[in-house]
This record gives sequence, structure tokens and C-alpha cells, in this order.
Amino acid sequence: MKKSIVVFASGTGSNFKNIIKKIKLHRLNAQVNLLVSNNSNCKAIDFAKRNNIETFVYNSKIYPNDLNQDILLQNLNQYKVDLILLAGYMKKISKTIVRFYKNKILNIHPSLLPKYGGKGFYGMKVHEAVYKNQDKKSGATVHFVDENYDTGPILLQKEISLLPSENSLTIAKKVLDIEHEIYFQGVSLFCSDKIHWKKGKLLIEE
Ligand code: GRF
Repeated sequence: MKKSIVVFASGTGSNFKNIIKKIKLHRLNAQVNLLVSNNSNCKAIDFAKRNNIETFVYNSKIYPNDLNQDILLQNLNQYKVDLILLAGYMKKISKTIVRFYKNKILNIHPSLLPKYGGKGFYGMKVHEAVYKNQDKKSGATVHFVDENYDTGPILLQKEISLLPSENSLTIAKKVLDIEHEIYFQGVSLFCSDKIHWKKGKLLIEE
């Protein structure tokens, strides 16, 4: 059975676009039913509209009193949701939503977690820190989302080596390529029911 996916994105949405591309190529047995964004002007929203994917703009300006994100949850509940993908989503997901969709929310993070994870480490901030520390490697991580920033169970991680001539922009580009690759792999594992949970531990079926 096709999995129903909801994507959350705030910016360019290249990870979102890549998932749609893989669906169109029949490499994923899934469909994206909704794109949620806090930013009505972002490229991810434009892309969703051009591809006839429903959109929902959700932010504290529009819903100032929705502290537990109940309205967002109600909205999600109108869809069949097998999987939620955070793809460059800049806002925290509430405990209410994380608990409701336990083990059903994935995130892609542009570092080798737990390194450069947590509040304040996002986007270029991560790559600038990697550059500043002259790290010899970086990479990306696909993980399930728990109630804190970037601490949920890791599904996949891929490392890349960095050259001494690298700067934060070249690091960002290399890492983004890896993100596309492993996010697709992670979503593919989920969509083919290869992820299992045993006593809270994540197991991947061979
Ligand atoms: C990626 O680096 C992702 O790891 C981070 O936000 C960025 C989103 O990129 N969470 P895009 O919008 O998918 O192009």
C-alpha cells in the first residue's frame, strides 16, 4: 500500500523536491498529500502548488494562541498520515504532535549527529562551525524526531571527507547532495516497511 506523506518545509525545499522526483520515477511507493510551511513565500510552497499538492501555512502570526499546535494537529488529522518528513523546517514540532505521531516523523540534519545538533545548529550555522573547527569530515543524518532538537533515534548517517581548501559554501553543497541521497534511502526503508521497533530500539530489516 502506498504510504501517505506530509512534508514540512520552510525554505528552498530541495529535499522535498527530491522526494517528489523519486515518487514520480516510481522509486518510492508513496504520495505526498500535504506540504506544511511556516513561510507562505518560500520556494517549497511554490513547488507544491505547481505540483497540485495541498499546502497549509502555519505560523504564530496566523495562530498566535495555538501554543500546543492543536490546530496544526487537527489539520494533519484530516489526512491519512503514515509519515511526516521535516525537510528544512525551521520551527519546533510540539510535544503533542511528536507524541501523536510517535516513530512517524523523520528529519534530515546537515551534520553527523550528535555533533553540531541542538538549538541554534541549523543550515549554514552548522557548515560554518565545521569550517571554523577545520573538521576533516562532515555529513548528514536522517533521524526520527523526539521531543528535543536533533536527539531522536538515528536511522541513517553518511560521512563525507573534506579537503583543506573547502569553505562553508562548498561544504554545504557537498552535504546537501548527501542529504538528498540518504533522505531518499530512509524514506524508502520506511515505505517498504523495513523499519521495526523493539523495546524502543530501531531495527532495520536487511
Ligand atoms: C538542509 O540542509 C536540511 O538538512 C536542513 O535544512 C536544509 C534544507 O534544505 N534541515 P532544503 O530546503 O531541503 O533545500
